[in-house]
Amino acid sequence: MKITVNGKNCDFEMQAPLKEVLVPFGLNFPCKGNGKCGRCRINCMGLSATKLDERFLTAEEIGRGIRLACDKQAKDGLVITFQALEGKQGYKLKEADVTLKIINNVAFVDLLNMEGKSVEKIEIILPIGFTTRTLRASIVKPMLELFEKYSVATANRLEVIAEENILNLLYGGDYESYTEGVNIGMPAEEAVLNII
Ligand code: FES
Repeated sequence: MKITVNGKNCDFEMQAPLKEVLVPFGLNFPCKGNGKCGRCRINCMGLSATKLDERFLTAEEIGRGIRLACDKQAKDGLVITFQALEGKQGYKLKEADVTLKIINNVAFVDLLNMEGKSVEKIEIILPIGFTTRTLRASIVKPMLELFEKYSVATANRLEVIAEENILNLLYGGDYESYTEGVNIGMPAEEAVLNII
C-alpha cells in the first residue's frame, strides 16, 4: 500500500488506522482519537467525509478535502498533507492561565501569562440556542488552537464567568469553584478536553 504524506512516499504492508500512520509524521491527536477535539485535521481528497467530519468541519472545508484523521483507515494511493507539529515557531508559554467569559452567544477567551498579562484574546461566536454539546464543541476547538499556537504545556488556572443558566449547561449545578477560578495545573490539552 502506497501513501504520500506531506510529499514523502511511504510503503505499508498492511491495512492500518490512519492515526498509526500519521503520528510518526508529526500529526497531533489531542483527544487521542476519541473524536472530541476536531484537531486532527488533514487535507486529503481521497477520503470520504464521515459524521465526525460533519460535526467539526464546515461544508466548505469538507469540499476542499479537509478531513479529520482519527476515524479513518489508511488506503492505497492516498495523498495527505497537513501541518506537522515540528517546526512551529513563535512565543512559547510553559504555563498559562485562562479566563473564559460567556456573554449571550459570544465566548471570550483570554490567555494570560504567569505575570497575569493577556497574551491573546479570542472571541467565539456560539450557535443560537446552544446546548451543552454544541457549546462545548464550539469552545474546545478554538481553545486548543490557542494553546497549540503558544505551545502551552500546562494550564495553570481557569476562571469561568457566565450567567447561571450557561454555567448549568457547562457544569450542571457544580460550577461555583469555576466562577472563582480553579487551579487545574494539568497539561493544556487535557484541561480543555476534561474541564470545558
Ligand atoms: S484526535 Fe480528536 S477528533 Fe481526532
